[in-house]
Amino acid sequence: MNEKKFYLEREVYPAQLDVLPVQWSEIFAREVPLAVEIGFGNGEFLADWARRQPDWNFVGIEISSESMIRLQKLLHREDINNVLAVHHNARFALRECWVEESVRHVMMNFPDPWPKDRHKSRRLIDDNFAEILAGVLMADGCYELVTDQDWYAADAHDVFSRSPWFEVGGIELNPQRPVTTKYERKWREMGRSSYRVLAVRKSFRPLDRWIKDNDMPHAFVEKEIQTADVEALYGHEYHEGERRFVVKSGYKQLGRDMFLLRMVTKDVDYKQDFFVQIKRHEKGRWIVRLDPTIKPYRTPAVKMMVTKVAQLLSPEG
Ligand SMILES: C[S@@+](CC[C@H](N)C(=O)[O-])C[C@H]1O[C@@H](n2cnc3c(N)ncnc32)[C@H](O)[C@@H]1O
Repeated sequence: MNEKKFYLEREVYPAQLDVLPVQWSEIFAREVPLAVEIGFGNGEFLADWARRQPDWNFVGIEISSESMIRLQKLLHREDINNVLAVHHNARFALRECWVEESVRHVMMNFPDPWPKDRHKSRRLIDDNFAEILAGVLMADGCYELVTDQDWYAADAHDVFSRSPWFEVGGIELNPQRPVTTKYERKWREMGRSSYRVLAVRKSFRPLDRWIKDNDMPHAFVEKEIQTADVEALYGHEYHEGERRFVVKSGYKQLGRDMFLLRMVTKDVDYKQDFFVQIKRHEKGRWIVRLDPTIKPYRTPAVKMMVTKVAQLLSPEG
């Protein structure tokens, strides 16, 4: 038994890294084919896949914290060392955290179909998702979907058929796969069907990333800042197009020339909650920058917020 290892060590926190996209081969310390499973659930499929292909690296993406823990316990228990995981929404994570043309296979087993029309925007597969896949998959890399919903398979098939970057075969009924998920086996035992869509990337589409560089946003204020100046920002809301921020609360560090503001930013529908420092840099000059305790992704809303806060604190602000 490996007593020194903690099982929760397989999670990677891309926002904490100074440089994005993530260089997965550096983290794994080997340059081999990379595969991704989106929404790995109890992790059984991913662990099995990784065990069968020890000469590949695997990254799972999940939004459920419980699934993150389950997968890591499983990997630890079975001593599987070629899998890492990211706790995030797959659309954002794939677009911002993967090197272009770096993935050999993206797998999605039984995604939540969100059948109701009013929940349609929660479905992962749409034209924008196909564009993201055309950016991260390498030439001839494939996207594989297995679902228990015939209409969902048909929708996905339509998306990839009209996409200029993919070649897609027909919808396969009840595919025989060497690895299956718990959900799939249960479904089969009930005599129900499953459907597979396999799309192969034929041409590359550059990613429309939100995070375009690795600069740490900061801005200077050319005056002495008083508590009242910072207090005046509380509750302040500001937006530019689909990027917005609100100043939730503020704190002053005892005995130091530093304030912390708790900020919430939103890029379209992507929300982040973190702190910004307002700190004396030198006499008559203060700096506004991200506090390192909770690092947000450096999205356009985050950058816009730092510049705007400095502007509001400036003499002319
Ligand atoms: C119906 S379950 C299927 C789980 C597993 N793949 C299986 O076949 O047993 C869907 C999984 O996708 C995850 N999920 C849903 N939306 C997601 C998203 N946008 N990004 C990443 N994971 C997501 C859910 O947390 C859940 O674990």
